[in-house]
Amino acid sequence: MKNLLVTGGAGFIGTNFVYYWLDKYPEDHIVVLDALTYAGNKANLTEAEKNPKFEFVHGNILDQSLVETLLENHNIDTIVHFAAESHVDRSIHGPDEFINTNIVGTHTLLKAAKKIWLDADNKSHRFHHISTDEVYGTLGPDDPPFTELTPYAPNSPYAASKASSDHLVRAYHETYGLNTTISNCSNNYGPFQFPEKLIPLVIINVLFNKPLPIYGDGRQIRDWLYVDDHNRGVDLILEKGIPGQTYNIGGTNEWANIDIVHLICDLLLKKFSNDTSLAKQFANSPAAQANHPASLISHVKDRAGHDRRYAINAKKIKNNLGFIPEESFETGIRKTLTWFLDHQPWWNELLDVSYKDWIAVNYA
Ligand code: NAD
Ligand code: DAU
Repeated sequence: MKNLLVTGGAGFIGTNFVYYWLDKYPEDHIVVLDALTYAGNKANLTEAEKNPKFEFVHGNILDQSLVETLLENHNIDTIVHFAAESHVDRSIHGPDEFINTNIVGTHTLLKAAKKIWLDADNKSHRFHHISTDEVYGTLGPDDPPFTELTPYAPNSPYAASKASSDHLVRAYHETYGLNTTISNCSNNYGPFQFPEKLIPLVIINVLFNKPLPIYGDGRQIRDWLYVDDHNRGVDLILEKGIPGQTYNIGGTNEWANIDIVHLICDLLLKKFSNDTSLAKQFANSPAAQANHPASLISHVKDRAGHDRRYAINAKKIKNNLGFIPEESFETGIRKTLTWFLDHQPWWNELLDVSYKDWIAVNYA
C-alpha cells in the first residue's frame, strides 16, 4: 500500500492520474497538492473527493514547510510531481513563473523530501519527476527519435526550465541518495486538457466557428500519446523502475500539426452528420450546416523558436518495464472528441475566465 503526494493533481495529466490510480489501487491514499493556477481546476476532482482515501490541499510547491508537514502527517512514501507551468507559448511571453515553479518549486520539493525521508529518518521512498521530451530540443526529418542518452538542448524557456529541474532531480539522487526516477514524455491528449493546447483548442474553435490558428506552415511534428498511456508508464516506473534512472515515454505516433487539425475537422463533421442534436447544441459551427470545418484553418505567425519535430524512442521502458500503449491514435482521438462534446459545461467555465484573456492577448 502506498501513500502518494501528487503535485499538480488538479491539472490535465494530474487529474487523469488521480482517477487512474484510485481505480487501479483502491487501497492507496492520495493527497493532491495544487496551487490552482489558471490551469488547475478543483472541480476536476469532484468525483475523487467522494473517496475517503483522497484529500485535496490547496497550496504551493514553493511552500517548503507545507510540503514537509504533508509528508509527515500523511506518512507519504511516494511523490509524483506533475506541478508545473506547462504551456510553451506562455513561457515565451512570461518566463518568470516557469523559473519559479518548474525550477525553484521542484528544488523546494526535493529539499523537503530529503529532509523528511533521508535526514530525519531513512524511510523507504520514491520521488518521481514528470518531465517532457522538449528537453532534448528539436529533430530534423531523418534524425532518429530521442533516447534517454540524447543530449539536452532545450529551446524554449519552458523546455529550459524542465531541463533544469531534471538536472536537480538527478543531482539529488547522485549527491544525497534520494530515490528518484524521471520520465520524459511526448505530447499528451485526452479528457481535461486545458483548451489553450492544440487539440482541445481546435475542437472548441470548430464548435464555435472560430479560426483554427496554425503556426507557420503547420508541418511541425509531435509524437502523440493518450494521457492514460502516460499514466500507465508512470505506474510501471513506480513499480519496477530503478532509482536514478530516466525513462522516455511515447506512443511512436508522429503527426504533423496540420494533419491532426484536418483529422479533427473530418471526425467532427462525421459526428454532426450522425447526431442531429449536435447541430442544435453548437448551431454556429460550420459542421451544423454540413460545411467542412477545415475552412476555418488560418495560418498565423510561427511560434518563436518553434521546435520542428519531436519523436520518442520508447525501447527502454518497453523492453525493461513492459510498457505498451493501450490506446491507438484512432481510438484515443475519438474518445477525446466524445469527451469534449459531452463536457461543454466544463470547458465553458474555463472560456469564461482565463482562456478568454489568453485569446484576447494572442489572437486580437
Ligand atoms: P497543466 O498545466 O494542465 O497542469 C499543471 C498543474 O500544476 C495545475 O493544476 C496547476 O494549478 C498546478 N501548479 C502550477 N504551479 C504550481 C505550483 N507552484 N504549486 C502547486 N501546483 C502548481 O499541465 P499538464 O499538461 O497536466 O502537465 C503536467 C506535467 O506533465 C508538467 O510537469 C508537464 O511539464 C509534464 N508534461 C506534459 C505533457 C503534455 O503534453 N501536457 C507532456 C509531457 C510532460
Ligand atoms: O512534447 C511535450 C510537450 O507537449 C509538453 O511538455 C508541454 O507541456 C505541452 O504543452 C506540449 O507542448 P507543445 O508546444 O507541443 O503543445 P501545444 O499543444 O501548445 O502545441 C502542439 C503543436 O501545435 C506545436 O507544434 C504548436 C502548434 N500549435 C499550437 C497551438 C496552441 C499551433 O499550430 N496552433 C495553436 O494554436
